[in-house]
Amino acid sequence: TLIDKGGHKHFMAKEIAEQPTVIGEALSNYLDHNGNIHLPEPGLDFAKIDRLSMVACGTAYFACLTAKYWFEQIARLPVDVDVASEFRYREPPVPARTTALFVSQSGETADTLAALRYCADKADKIVSVVNVSESSIARESDLVLPIHAGVEVGVASTKAFTCQLTVLFILALKAAHDRGEIDDRSLSDHLSALRSMPSLIATALEANQQMQAAALRLAEARDVLFLGRGAMYPLAHEGALKLKEISYIHAEAYASGELKHGPIALVDKYVPVVVMAPRDALFDKTVSNMQEVMARKGRVILVSDRQGVEDAGEGAFATITLPTVPDVLAPILYAIPAQLLAYHTAVAKGTDVDQPRNLAKSVTVE
Ligand code: G6P
Repeated sequence: TLIDKGGHKHFMAKEIAEQPTVIGEALSNYLDHNGNIHLPEPGLDFAKIDRLSMVACGTAYFACLTAKYWFEQIARLPVDVDVASEFRYREPPVPARTTALFVSQSGETADTLAALRYCADKADKIVSVVNVSESSIARESDLVLPIHAGVEVGVASTKAFTCQLTVLFILALKAAHDRGEIDDRSLSDHLSALRSMPSLIATALEANQQMQAAALRLAEARDVLFLGRGAMYPLAHEGALKLKEISYIHAEAYASGELKHGPIALVDKYVPVVVMAPRDALFDKTVSNMQEVMARKGRVILVSDRQGVEDAGEGAFATITLPTVPDVLAPILYAIPAQLLAYHTAVAKGTDVDQPRNLAKSVTVE
């Protein structure tokens, strides 16, 4: 197989740029022209389950946390999410009518595989969302949902994350449909919004220069905070993880509303605070949290859409403008600045972007 950087300086840059294409690929594997969702055999009937238990590590874990918002809001299906190393040793009960869902790019992560084996004789069904279809996790699953991201070389996961989100969103819609929680009209609205993601992401990638400029400021920081609300909260975690992984800057994510319960004590003029704030129903609340940061001289990097930047960008240290996106899909689009802020910060610091110290692409030790 021919795997090169395709003219990019790093695999990570190439894999970020590939996202419109690979998400399109994932969509065409799960959706037909008539707007129907197709899962691989043997399929999954969400009308027969009461609960979903999701388990993963690293970036895949944040994809699960994001999907929890979708499954609960759209499909009214209760979801638990665990990091694999905690789940397996906690030995949680697995009630009847629970489906266990494992998300893993490599399909070989030792803790995730062990968690799967723990569930094998307890859960109704073992489902996996993987990039590598021939992996151990895929082999031991009842249903395998490939994400179609193609080979991912950069240790810090990028396109696998947005493809995981894409497949999980489709699965949440399927769950809503099976459980009678969504009407045809709103299902088809969600699906057409999803189909617009490749082009919205392509537009978001055009804000590269704004992200590079903001990253130059991040590169000088010792600590960075990421804030988000709702489904943007897990995305804030993914942004913090990306920055830690490749730039070695300490970064932490907080739910915007939780800022006042501790982390605001960290804020001074040396602490950049990245605020992931699409103009959704919670925008005004997030903006007021952001103003608390500004009042303490924290350096806000506001990521929003044009209207959001216009309404709330004054006094921000930097702003990043993304296209307007249907609220529910914002986590997929806002993954782009999460990735590119980390990427440009690492490049500015001169760290090894594709092979960060101490990290491995696939962690097969426990
Ligand atoms: C490692 C990688 C991460 C990845 C995690 C889970 O820590 O460096 O990028 O998110 O493993 O890997 P998986 O293959 O199970 O998704």
